[in-house]
Amino acid sequence: YFPKMIEITEVGPRDGLQNEAKFVPTAQKKQLIEQLVNTGVKRIETASFVHPKAVPQMADAQEIVAFSKSLGIDFLVLTPNMKALQLALAAGVQQIAVFVGASETFNERNIRRSIEDSLQECADMFQVAKQHNLFVRGYVSMCFSCPYEGAISYEQVTRVVRHFAEHGVDEISIGDTNGQATPRMVYERFAKLREDFPSMKFIAHFHDTNGFAYANTIAALQAGITAFDSSVGGLGGCPFSPGATGNISTNKLVELMHKMDIATGIDEEKLQLASNFAHNIIM
Ligand code: HMG
Ligand code: MG
Repeated sequence: YFPKMIEITEVGPRDGLQNEAKFVPTAQKKQLIEQLVNTGVKRIETASFVHPKAVPQMADAQEIVAFSKSLGIDFLVLTPNMKALQLALAAGVQQIAVFVGASETFNERNIRRSIEDSLQECADMFQVAKQHNLFVRGYVSMCFSCPYEGAISYEQVTRVVRHFAEHGVDEISIGDTNGQATPRMVYERFAKLREDFPSMKFIAHFHDTNGFAYANTIAALQAGITAFDSSVGGLGGCPFSPGATGNISTNKLVELMHKMDIATGIDEEKLQLASNFAHNIIM
């Protein structure tokens, strides 16, 4: 079983750039976003409202959000806490993304909260977000294994998924943050998630640290997943996940899908131009 088309959320400007030590000038970030829009990709995660000391690369989020709005595109912004949600509301963002780890240690390193506290804060945020008619994505990170804790159980993942679902999340992105999942783990975990949460929309968010991200994509497709996150040119990583490399590359993902007669709505040549541009600005 394979779908006729998949949906791609381009996360390069956020997940891709956040790991780059050298600050990419705001003007170049804007050019990258414009080039991505030209590829035909439907939705882009363009920025995050995080502490500039934690992730200096995202310090220009306000300006990037204003630019994304001016383009009239479908875009998402990461908001780890209530303060970030307030900034997003003030900036006129319409789609936010919260992120909580399935692993306690990672969550503490990433957003300096216990999972319990993060879930509580998310419940409050979802309420405010819904009052303002925002679309809410929930990310669950380290859904297969964790660089600090090793194997992650299905129950650790569903603890966060269930909480998100009960509080009205619109979609959930399941992250292999450190890129260590195997196709079998991916197939089994997504199949069970779909069985246990039949009305939830799940997205597969793969990092390619171990080179298995494309195999994992096929396993996710076979488990019925048709929405994926990817990053132009495979940029990225997470500064709080030691050793993790880039996201699955949008370019290779699109090529693979097209060769399998699965539509993406993305123009491969324009995507190559965007990828060349992305690699030039991070050099
Ligand atoms: P904190 O220090 O615990 O925050 O940071 P706090 O509430 O204790 O406040 C301390 C100070 O930070 C205060 O300022 C706040 O105003 C300020 P002061 O009064 O001392 O001047 N503050 C903020 N400033 C800007 N933006 C904010 C904000 N919140 C508080 N939102 C916080 C908590 C979450 C903000 C911090 O730890 C942080 O920014 N962490 C960065 C996390 C991050 O960006 N990680 C990477 C993205 S996640 C990821 O990549 C995974 C994903 O791709 C999926 C996957 O692969 O699995 C999504
Ligand atoms: Mg990620």
